[in-house]
Amino acid sequence: MASFEICGGCSLNGEVRIQGSKNAALPMIAACLLARGETKLYNCPHITDVYNMIKILENMGCFADFSGDCLTVDTTGNLSGIISPGDAASMRSSIMLLGAVLGRQKYVSLPWPGGCSIGKRPVDLHLKALEQMNVSVTHHSSGLECWTSCLRGGDISLAMPSVGATENVILAAVLANGTTRLHNAAKEPEVVDLCLFLNEMGARIHGMGTHHITISGVKQLKSVSYTVMSDRIVAGTYFAAAAATGGNILAYPVKEKDLRCVLDVLAVMGCGIIIRKDRIGLIAPPLLLPVESIYTQPFPGFPTDMQSQIMVCLTAARGTSMICENIFEDRFKIVPQLEKMGAKILVHENRAVIRGGCRLKGASVRAEDLRGGAALVIAGLMAEGDTKVEGSGYIERGYENIAKDLDQLGARIRRL
Ligand code: EPZ
Repeated sequence: MASFEICGGCSLNGEVRIQGSKNAALPMIAACLLARGETKLYNCPHITDVYNMIKILENMGCFADFSGDCLTVDTTGNLSGIISPGDAASMRSSIMLLGAVLGRQKYVSLPWPGGCSIGKRPVDLHLKALEQMNVSVTHHSSGLECWTSCLRGGDISLAMPSVGATENVILAAVLANGTTRLHNAAKEPEVVDLCLFLNEMGARIHGMGTHHITISGVKQLKSVSYTVMSDRIVAGTYFAAAAATGGNILAYPVKEKDLRCVLDVLAVMGCGIIIRKDRIGLIAPPLLLPVESIYTQPFPGFPTDMQSQIMVCLTAARGTSMICENIFEDRFKIVPQLEKMGAKILVHENRAVIRGGCRLKGASVRAEDLRGGAALVIAGLMAEGDTKVEGSGYIERGYENIAKDLDQLGARIRRL
């Protein structure tokens, strides 16, 4: 796997355009299966997870063409319900195919989904919800087999507002018989974007962005063209990089409402935030301030996907900060790597106490998950000396071209 080489000490300045959202595009690609025809997704990011999802659909019998930022998926033919082990095991979002394939052809066989090593990543909420929609699920050692005589709408309450489980229920419900009322649904912007896309296709979804979503089943959906929202976590990552290096950047397009909690934390750290419609500017202070406590929560709370990036910034803050990770049980994997660079972080269960005031030193470190890898790149930018971040493959699952984007902002970074 390739690596990034970073020469620290440059502050980031300038404008950066934000790519399309990984976590909106992936369920939309699965949703293409719910219509027979040619769907065009604009602003689709060129990232490994998208390539893997495309490959899964092609192995099922779809045709795909990805030129520029437009992904065209043709789902006209008869498709297989068997999903190939290799690709599905490589990412978490393959689980989204359950709802989409069942919505199209009533049978699906799916290997156990893979994904980042940030926790156990169970799928019990997905399966419990689908069983309530008249789906029979058989567990095999290698994966899952699901089938249904007909999908039935129903009242479903999720034990927790799981993003993936919410999306799977929606994908299964849009063509089901009757109405589905989903309670304790996830409110993430990516879920809302999926619902807007499905409604463009002819679905009847109401309440997206709230904890109560109603889906009235329809007979069929039509293939449409749609523009994917921009990636708020990539934008947040670049804001964190600018904050960590005393920089001044403008990112676009990004909506304040999608990142409100992250912008609030950056403001507490002393950053100036300038909001202009769908362009956001960040001006870093000469020295970052600590944050007494950050608790990761489902949207609109502080997103777990920004936790590692902010942790890295706080190593240089003037004082001690605390982060409590409430979503995933193993999302402090970068701490030993940051300690190699001189960070002082104490981890106890799901809490990390970050002692500030330390100037990171360049070192050779290893990414073990997507957002942790991006956070190590930020650590390299703010460190004294050179840093090598191994495992660029993790980072390229979600960042289209992090080296190019940061280089354009003045970073000294290259991909080896
Ligand atoms: C989505 O993952 C995102 N991935 C994650 O982004 C993101 O961190 C997460 O939502 C939370 O916002 C995609 O959208 C492709 P969850 P997902 O179901 O759907 C537990 C990134 O870096 N849970 O909301 O897997 C689960 O273990 C990735 O872009 C169950 O217990 O997240 C976790 O503790 C990382 N049973 C919590 O819920 C289930 O059946 C939240 O998971 C499902 C989930």
